Amino acid sequence: MAPESSWWQTAVVYQVYIRSFADGDGDGIGDIKGLAVRLPYLAALGVDAIWINPWYPSPMADAGYDVADYRDIEPAYGTLDEAQALIAEAHGLGIRVILDIVPNHTSDRHAWFRAALEGDPAAAERYHFRPGRGAHGDLPPNDWQSVFGGPAWTRVATGPLKGQWYLHLFAPGQPDLNWDNGEVRDEFEDILAFWFDRGVDGFRIDVAHGLIKAPGLPDGAQADTAQTMLQVEGAHPAWDQDGVHEIYRGWRRVADRYSPERIFIAEAWVPSNERLARYLRPDELHTAFQFDFLRSPWRADALRSVIDDAIGSAASVGAPPTWVLSNHDVTRTVTRFSRSQPEHLIETDWERARWAGEEPDHALGRRRARAAALIQLALPGTAYVYQGEELALEEIEDLPAEVRQDPTWAQSGFTDVGRDGCRIPLPWNDDDRTYGFAADPAAVTWLPQPGHWAQHSVEAQDRDPDSTLNLYRAALKLRPALWRDAGEVKWLDAGAGVAAFERGGAQCWVNTGTESVDLPAGTSVALASWPGVDTVLPPDTAVWLRTAG
Ligand code: GLC
Repeated sequence: MAPESSWWQTAVVYQVYIRSFADGDGDGIGDIKGLAVRLPYLAALGVDAIWINPWYPSPMADAGYDVADYRDIEPAYGTLDEAQALIAEAHGLGIRVILDIVPNHTSDRHAWFRAALEGDPAAAERYHFRPGRGAHGDLPPNDWQSVFGGPAWTRVATGPLKGQWYLHLFAPGQPDLNWDNGEVRDEFEDILAFWFDRGVDGFRIDVAHGLIKAPGLPDGAQADTAQTMLQVEGAHPAWDQDGVHEIYRGWRRVADRYSPERIFIAEAWVPSNERLARYLRPDELHTAFQFDFLRSPWRADALRSVIDDAIGSAASVGAPPTWVLSNHDVTRTVTRFSRSQPEHLIETDWERARWAGEEPDHALGRRRARAAALIQLALPGTAYVYQGEELALEEIEDLPAEVRQDPTWAQSGFTDVGRDGCRIPLPWNDDDRTYGFAADPAAVTWLPQPGHWAQHSVEAQDRDPDSTLNLYRAALKLRPALWRDAGEVKWLDAGAGVAAFERGGAQCWVNTGTESVDLPAGTSVALASWPGVDTVLPPDTAVWLRTAG
């Protein structure tokens, strides 16, 4: 039984995209050594936990989400011993460590897939191999599309399985596992235990809604797999099948063998918070990302309704709500808020064409992103901060075609630039070629950094009391006393364009309108997202207020 209030129910979790966080050996790729050096930065920022994107050996067909060995560390990132030491060092600083587990698919270099291609029938059973359609079997077995573009099937060109097709909902280098196979189930429970034994506090579950496919792999009636994955559109036989829940009941039994508590966070893109709540039943997962907050346009009424919906549905299963403003898959917050605000911001992320020709106003986007952070950190539940959000970094949208790495770019036939623009190596200082990202300043970073990031570096922001970094530090310092156990959100009557709520002895106001509004008498400003706020709240600004008495 979980204790009354567990750390993860109110935590601020910082997402470390390890490839781009800090490079300790000077090869231009982030690594464990670099992360270890920067742990004190994260402790001083005030985060409760880090979630590290996949750090396992991988051919990097999808930036590490193609895992070749779930029980080891990618050589470019370090060694298993370094990983162990990192977990211990983080714990020493009071930071919990959450890993990323990728159960929907392996790499095509995983020993199982290699064995399957070499003709081992038991290994082939662990994946989805099928004959093709058509007189010569040269058409894919069904109409599913890869999330990254193109068919979700690749035909085996040589060897004993020549002519068969295998399913990959993502890149061809990411064959989908067959979760109806008992060996697959046993293997993953064992992998969880492997890392729990090494002190890891929990797992973020990649594509948690994808493991079970509808029996017989029926056509999806041309429904776009990518859009249905993100549930911008309706249902699809590849996603959110009821059979997936039995898997998580098994995982929960594994986690519950450990003390202190080990937890799971689902990445599940499902059509409603009601469907999401099913993953959070008491014998399943602990929490799940709720993505409506990051899909919300910058409008008080929209924000208010996603907040109510997220809180209501989490409460229905006794889970904490979760607040995500960005991650390694979506356009950075600053940039989303830099342009016109369509109904679903995430949609534009995968169909960037919608924004084509509209110049971003980054100064405006930054201002709104800072305000959004104060809303996020005032709400009950868990908040996720993606590395670089605390620096208000913008999306880099003009990467040259030849440096792009995201498989989305090639698989979409070079129409969707993909997600590299939110994965640029972090700027730590303002005085060397890689902005202090790489231990060797002569290193060539795996994605190029823009020429103007010195001003956004950690060092530059350190010196500026009004920087976004110092805003986050102040917010995370105040959050425990002001908000952590403050109870329910009570909306205040604040007028058009303004959302305001009270929790305990504090209020959070945000102005998404175009006119300044007066703040209520008898309150004092505890923290404002923009300098100079006193009794009046300007547009695109948020404030935390202490109420008198
Ligand atoms: C998740 C990850 C994303 C990855 C995909 C396939 O959505 O967040 O980065 O490409 O799964 O593993």
